Formats: sequence, C-alpha cells, structure tokens
Amino acid sequence: MTYVKLPIFEQTGYVVLDSYDQLRDSREWENLVFVDWKSSGDTRFAPLASAYGQMECDGFWNHTPAKTDKDGVWVPENVALAPRLTERAQEPGANIGRCRVIELQPNTYEDAIYNLHRDDNNRLNPEGTGWIVRAFCNLTDNRDSVMILREDKDDPATETRIPLPAGAQVVIDTQRLYHAVWHPGDEPRYCLITSYESGPELDAWISARHPVALVPSAPVDPDFAHQAYAAADAKRAAREAALAAQSADPTFGNGTLPPTMEVLSEA
Ligand SMILES: [Fe+2]
Repeated sequence: MTYVKLPIFEQTGYVVLDSYDQLRDSREWENLVFVDWKSSGDTRFAPLASAYGQMECDGFWNHTPAKTDKDGVWVPENVALAPRLTERAQEPGANIGRCRVIELQPNTYEDAIYNLHRDDNNRLNPEGTGWIVRAFCNLTDNRDSVMILREDKDDPATETRIPLPAGAQVVIDTQRLYHAVWHPGDEPRYCLITSYESGPELDAWISARHPVALVPSAPVDPDFAHQAYAAADAKRAAREAALAAQSADPTFGNGTLPPTMEVLSEA
C-alpha cells in the first residue's frame, strides 16, 4: 500500500518541534467533559473531535458508517469549553481525525513498558491519500515524564525517551512506533492529541517549527531499567497465560482478566 508520507519521518518516525508557550494560555482542559476510555494506563479522554460529533472516543472505524481517522466532527460542548485548544488543533490546516485531551494518572516505568503499543490510525485509509500521524502537545508541566518510543517493542536499544514539560510538541507516526508515556508525577498529566493527514499543510506547519527528527533520550538508570523490563516481561507472560487459560476454558476468571491485564485499547 502506498500513501503520501512526509520525508521527515523516514529516519526515526517522530519529530520534536519548537516548544509552545503553554503558560500564556488558560487551563481549558480543567473544564472539559471527560469520558472513560482506557488506553495505555489509567486514562480518560475529552473528545474535541470524534467520528460524528458525539461525546465519545471510539475509533472511527467502529461507527456506522465506518470511516478512517479523518474528517473528525467537532464536539460542540467541548469545543465551546476549549476554544484555544481547538484553534491550536486547527492551526496546521491539515485534515483532522480524532482530536482529544488525554488525562493520564501517574504510573511507573514498568507500567509504561508493559503498555507499549502501536495505533491503528490508517485502518480504512484509502491508498494514495495521506498517512495519518498524531501530534502530542503537552499541556501540564511534566518535566520528569517522558514519551517512550520504540521501533521494536522488545528491543530497549531502539528506545527514545522524550521529556514532556508544558508546551512540548511531538509529532509521531504512532502506527510505526510503539509508544506509551511514563508519568511518575503525583497529579494527572494532560495532553492534546490530534490525528492529522500527511500532506503539504502538515509539512508546512512542521517545517516552520524547527523539527528535530533525532533527540537524545532522557537518561534512566540501567539497573532500574532492567528491573522494569523484567517486570513488564513477566506481566506480559502472565497475561498471555491467562488468555490461553481463558481460551481453553471460557469460564476461567469468570470470562474476564484482572484490570491490570486488560487488552489495551487503541489510543
Ligand atoms: Fe497510542
């Protein structure tokens, strides 16, 4: 399948842009309407654009009629509550699919490694059109938190950890890179996440913000990291064993897995 992709993503699958001066804006996310939507940890989401303008966060392909992650419909109630966030999402002028603010509760490095996943942004996307990538604009000042990216889920050597202070802006091909956020704070993290269609509009917006396609990783203690990898591996193995037991006997665990072993939703 061939799609329109931006060359700047070829090397690493992500670009870090100039930081946005988040402190000049009001904290609109504090008033938004959030809905429960599990993705990579203990999360809720406030949709600004959804498949058909409803207050919900499901993938656009799960609606009738199903559609790809483009042509999102603005959710009137949340747009009215967050006009500046809406303006920021619209700034590139590219086609927008899902657009929402994520609320992520504090977690551990082990949790984040366990939660690494790829998105399914391009399901139903017609060949020959623009590949969907996602922009992450961090709203809260989470200097000790990082966006973890891996080209290979099981290879820590492919990992990049991008710090998330207020105003951090990263555009990621989240269907190529495994990703999850490690947020060790004691308050929730908030971030504006928008799906954009690759094309000249997005290219111009990125190019005007001094994109960097390879940044140094935030450091992590090697011993601490190895313990986290081992714990995440053990948790994955336990989950696979539970799933196998469940498929052999549907009554196992009353047909459900413990919450910590839930299958990750697409984010
Ligand atoms: Fe995701």
